Amino acid sequence: MNKDNKKYNRVLVTTALPYANGPVHIGHLAGVYIPADIYTRYLRLKHIDVILIGGSDEHGVPITIKARNEGVTPQDIVDRYHKIIKESFEELGISFDIYSRTTSDIHKEMASNFFRTLYDKGEFVEKTSMQLYDEQANQFLADRYVVGTCPHCGNDGAYGDQCEKCGTSLAATDLINPHSTITGSVPVLRETKHWYLPLDKWEPKLRKWILEDHKEWKTNVYGQCKSWLDMGLQPRAVSRDLNWGVPVPVEGAEGKVLYVWFDAPIGYISNTKELLPDSWEKYWKEPDSKIVHFIGKDNIVFHCIVFPSMLMADGSYQLPENVPANEFLNLEGDKISTSRNWAVWLHEYLKDFPGKQDVLRYVLTANAPETKDNDFTWRDFQARNNNELVAILGNFINRVLVLTHKYYNGVIPAQGDASKYSDIIAEFASVKDELENYIENYRFRDALREAMNLARIGNKFLADTEPWKLIKTNPDQVETIMNIALQISANLAIAFEPFLPFMALKLKNILNLPQNVSWDNLGSIDILPHGHVINQPQLLFEKIEDSEIDAQIQRLQRIKKENELTNFRPQVIAPTIDFSEFEKIDMRVGTIKECAKVPKADKLLFFKIDDGTGTERTIVSGIAKYYNPEDLVGKQICFVANLAPRKLKGIESQGMILSAQNPDGSLIVIGPQCPVQPGSQVK
Ligand code: 2FM
Ligand code: ZN
Repeated sequence: MNKDNKKYNRVLVTTALPYANGPVHIGHLAGVYIPADIYTRYLRLKHIDVILIGGSDEHGVPITIKARNEGVTPQDIVDRYHKIIKESFEELGISFDIYSRTTSDIHKEMASNFFRTLYDKGEFVEKTSMQLYDEQANQFLADRYVVGTCPHCGNDGAYGDQCEKCGTSLAATDLINPHSTITGSVPVLRETKHWYLPLDKWEPKLRKWILEDHKEWKTNVYGQCKSWLDMGLQPRAVSRDLNWGVPVPVEGAEGKVLYVWFDAPIGYISNTKELLPDSWEKYWKEPDSKIVHFIGKDNIVFHCIVFPSMLMADGSYQLPENVPANEFLNLEGDKISTSRNWAVWLHEYLKDFPGKQDVLRYVLTANAPETKDNDFTWRDFQARNNNELVAILGNFINRVLVLTHKYYNGVIPAQGDASKYSDIIAEFASVKDELENYIENYRFRDALREAMNLARIGNKFLADTEPWKLIKTNPDQVETIMNIALQISANLAIAFEPFLPFMALKLKNILNLPQNVSWDNLGSIDILPHGHVINQPQLLFEKIEDSEIDAQIQRLQRIKKENELTNFRPQVIAPTIDFSEFEKIDMRVGTIKECAKVPKADKLLFFKIDDGTGTERTIVSGIAKYYNPEDLVGKQICFVANLAPRKLKGIESQGMILSAQNPDGSLIVIGPQCPVQPGSQVK
């Protein structure tokens, strides 16, 4: 079950609680929810007592900021997104045993009691300090209510809790030139009291637990923990001056709530209690329980340092056995961003690609950012569907089903003497061990590749044995071939179950797989008995057409344009010049008589311009990427007429056509708004 062979009797799998201030996107899915679901489904298939815990993170500043921007209450925001997130996870087949929320009564009570226990045990340090305060909004500026320049990397959009550019965790008072995101004003410092968890107290235990006892953790996780520990841990505030969150349950704490990163991980415990009111403690407190947190890399410190310190301070909880954090998934070469709408949203995907849940699950697993950041592109999505799911897996199953109906009316033929095919049988006999080893070590990409390899083996087997030819000369041998091909199909239905549960169910139904067939049968060639009747074939996957992909790419291009426009800041105005200097520039209107591409130059167009002098003027301009030459003929443009001529690609350019530059760098030629005599001055 685990590398150190420790025996566990139950497993508790948690998934990072997404903030309910927006829907979930492919980055969340690839990083956390799909791997966690594969892992849990696999353990269930292995008959292990496992529960998958999820829920929405409904407190914290991102939610209050969104509510303020929209003029609604934070509760309205979390109600809206909790519903979208929960329903879309369900539709994607993320098999949560519970998906709850941190605004539930059970959670508020659990988080409050957790704090109170630590408070009563004297585990907090109470400290008064100077914090940033917005005098216009009359409130302290916690976390994302303040932005400024990161003292580590110079990013001038760093938040009061973290710089997203260099990943450093910050205190709001660390920021250089801070300003309020509520009013834009420069905050002042004001005194306030908070409770701090002294992480330094737990440092020796954390060091031993992670650096000595968990050397098997993923390199990215182990490395981040080591660098935190090597820098030395500091006490960390676990309360905030805010009016949205779980109130700090002690006297003298009016207007203060638990810090969202104190309250959210307790959500894992509350949601377990909501699921299993009588037996939840077993999963959290018994030493024969294994706890695994699936998270993204930005959450490592909270799950490996802060939450474990909270658990140790309480003293009655087990620490996680593993925290398999993934790196980030980018989209078409750019960082996924909720605020820039640069994402593929799950609920939109499900609408745009109905019935194709498994395609997304497949692509995001095959391309999961397990060891480094990875990129999702729509073209790769299409290629993986068409060339792998359709052409390899779907094609193999379809050929087997169609031939079984054609030759045997859907009845499984006798296996006969299979010894001739022992090589192929040996090849897929090892798939179970390989899959198990990969999944148990959180290597889901490799595991999926192994499962797909089984379909490749099947295809090669059919191509090598050619039953469609052999049927005329040796029908007995074809029975053996088809029996083996059918056994491979049954193996595929089992092997893919953790990864592509919708396809696996469909295939099981088509094969009419006996009820008692389970994961344990994986690798066997006796799953479908002679005489067993299968159902009619159905296609497992469909080709995805270019038009569907083009629509998605166009959507992203539209968003990129919108973002460029929103973020457009004009260039700083050049230093002032005298009128006499301006007058030196002779600008004129001309009419384009000829226009053509300059050979061997991507950017250049060649123009013949009527400039009113009677002789046509030649101008070469770098706008070829933005215009078809023929569309410009007959148009009027403005140009600088007295610029010293210069040669471009061997052509003398006698002036410069004026253009305006868009935020994306594209150029638009400037001309008069109604016809003007060629040669007229532009003043
Ligand atoms: O980063 C996030 O989206 C956080 N809401 C994750 C919280 S995980 C847990 F601790 F609840
Ligand atoms: Zn930074």
